[in-house]
Amino acid sequence: MKIAIIGAGNVGGALGRSWAKAGHTIIFGVRDPANGKTKPPLAEIGGAASSVVVPDAVRSAEVIVLATPWDAVPTVINAMGDLRGKILIDCTNPLSLNAEGSLGLSLGSSTSGAEEIARLATGARVAKAFNTYGWENFADSSYPGHGELKPVMFYCSDDDEAKEVVETLAKDLGFEPVDTGGLGMARSLEPLALMWIRLSIRNGRNPNFTWARLTR
Ligand SMILES: NC(=O)c1ccc[n+]([C@@H]2O[C@H](COP(=O)([O-])OP(=O)(O)OC[C@H]3O[C@@H](n4cnc5c(N)ncnc54)[C@H](OP(=O)(O)O)[C@@H]3O)[C@@H](O)[C@H]2O)c1
Repeated sequence: MKIAIIGAGNVGGALGRSWAKAGHTIIFGVRDPANGKTKPPLAEIGGAASSVVVPDAVRSAEVIVLATPWDAVPTVINAMGDLRGKILIDCTNPLSLNAEGSLGLSLGSSTSGAEEIARLATGARVAKAFNTYGWENFADSSYPGHGELKPVMFYCSDDDEAKEVVETLAKDLGFEPVDTGGLGMARSLEPLALMWIRLSIRNGRNPNFTWARLTR
């Protein structure tokens, strides 16, 4: 798959490295292709990755993965150009600091970042995924000693084809994809990310844990 990753920082870089290892072509869409955070992942991935400005990345890719800070989202979507029919996977979390300096979500419970992105990105087929863990788990999802049990990747979308793409890309990273429903389920997945962040801070900033699913 030709994947445009918008943002080549912690998340974009880790996803790009891992998907390139799985055989995908990575096009980083960034503000300044010659500089910024793109250089380390580009150097590591080699020929399977390139770095171009945001609209060029979007134009040439089959799938777009949004991995920028939440504050940059309106500017970035505006820069993407025509998104009609494009599959857009939202990995962002609308995080904010409250007056006491503790981390929360900025949008309340009657919408979500993903739904706001769907409103901004006219015609795009939006999915929410790859937001509920720290980037370290996208770089390496292996947790030896748990038999067949894999870390889960919760996702949601209103579009069946977008869901299929997320399933494939999640499996390529070593996750068990879990379809949680329509895009409105991002109202649950974004708080889940916040819980993961709070637990990781509480555990001495340890990012080495994920969610798994037991069934019977
Ligand atoms: N960190 C995590 O473990 C984690 C896990 C899951 C989800 N998330 C979410 O994923 C998103 C990215 O987090 P991150 O930790 O990867 O951030 P990061 O390391 O700061 O990287 C952000 C990337 O976005 C780019 N960017 C910023 N503003 C831009 C703009 N206006 N146009 C184009 N590119 C722009 C930056 O490019 P420059 O190099 O030009 O600055 C950089 O490549 C956030 O929404 C975060 O909440 C983070």
